[in-house]
Amino acid sequence: MKAIIPVAGVGTRLRPHTFSNPKVLINVAGKPIIGHIMDKLIAAGIDEAIVIVGYLGDMVENWLTSHYNIKFTFVTQSELLGLAHAIWMCKPFVFDNEPLLIILGDTIFDVDLDPVLKSPSSTLGVKQVEDPRRFGVAITDGEKILKLVEKPDTPVSNLAIVGLYFLHQSKRLFDNLDYLIDNKIKTKGEYQLTDALELMIEAGEIFTTFPVNGWYDCGKPETLLSTNEILLRNNSHTKKYSGCIITEPVFIPENAILENAIIGPNATIGEMAVITDAIIKDSIIGNGAKVVHIMLEHSIIGNNASITGNPHEINIGDYSEVRVR
Ligand code: UTP
Repeated sequence: MKAIIPVAGVGTRLRPHTFSNPKVLINVAGKPIIGHIMDKLIAAGIDEAIVIVGYLGDMVENWLTSHYNIKFTFVTQSELLGLAHAIWMCKPFVFDNEPLLIILGDTIFDVDLDPVLKSPSSTLGVKQVEDPRRFGVAITDGEKILKLVEKPDTPVSNLAIVGLYFLHQSKRLFDNLDYLIDNKIKTKGEYQLTDALELMIEAGEIFTTFPVNGWYDCGKPETLLSTNEILLRNNSHTKKYSGCIITEPVFIPENAILENAIIGPNATIGEMAVITDAIIKDSIIGNGAKVVHIMLEHSIIGNNASITGNPHEINIGDYSEVRVR
């Protein structure tokens, strides 16, 4: 089965990291975001992917084709007009009415896809969230979806659509995407996939939901770091380094150089990174980065960046209290 993976976005909320790297290639728990997604898709039997690229698309294309041996089609979306527009661009590469899985390229999930891909109806991954205002939400009768609303201003449902969509009959989706584009129907300035799906529901298409409890957002620095922490729990990897203290879970590749370092918990270290006289926890350190004489916490250090602190020389008397900032 084919998957459509839109990754054309700029990733503004993850700047400055996304100035030089596409969001989906940012390392979380030892591999790029999109690597986590691809591994799950391939394990579920997806053997072909249509990837919508745009911003720094060549880098995504090179990484995917050099790491996975499935058939890829890359579609370039040069203007970011919204998710519905991105999916609409894939129409020439989809066979008439074949079933499709759509997954956002920045959504790492932990869900059994087997029943989803065998679903007799179209079905959307959902999760209960406290503040649904930045999501599309589903109003259901407990079984079927009655209505979808994109980024509701008033709280109509807490069931957020989290970026996993199974379309049982893709022709109806593309007919409705054509309709949105032909009639320039946008919501909040963009062509919304939720609007196309809502038109399908209004026309009588049955949509169900499936729970995605393991849904790990990577769109902002704080969610990237909490996703790193969660994924490291099942993916801790390090060798022994003499003279260093490692508190798992961590991801430290074989070629990282550590000297006099205290690493972890929840630290991902990039390939060929050099860490000297430093303490690092709850952080992501990029490939080839250099970290010297510093303590880092809740930090994201880009590839090949270098950060050096000052060792302090302090001579203080009994009962003193000094805070060095
Ligand atoms: P987001 O809006 O969450 O991601 O889109 P973004 O644009 O990359 O990040 P910010 O908002 O600027 O920080 C969700 C997914 O849909 C893709 C994005 O690449 C991302 O994977 N997308 C969105 C497209 O491919 N094309 C679009 O027109 C819109």
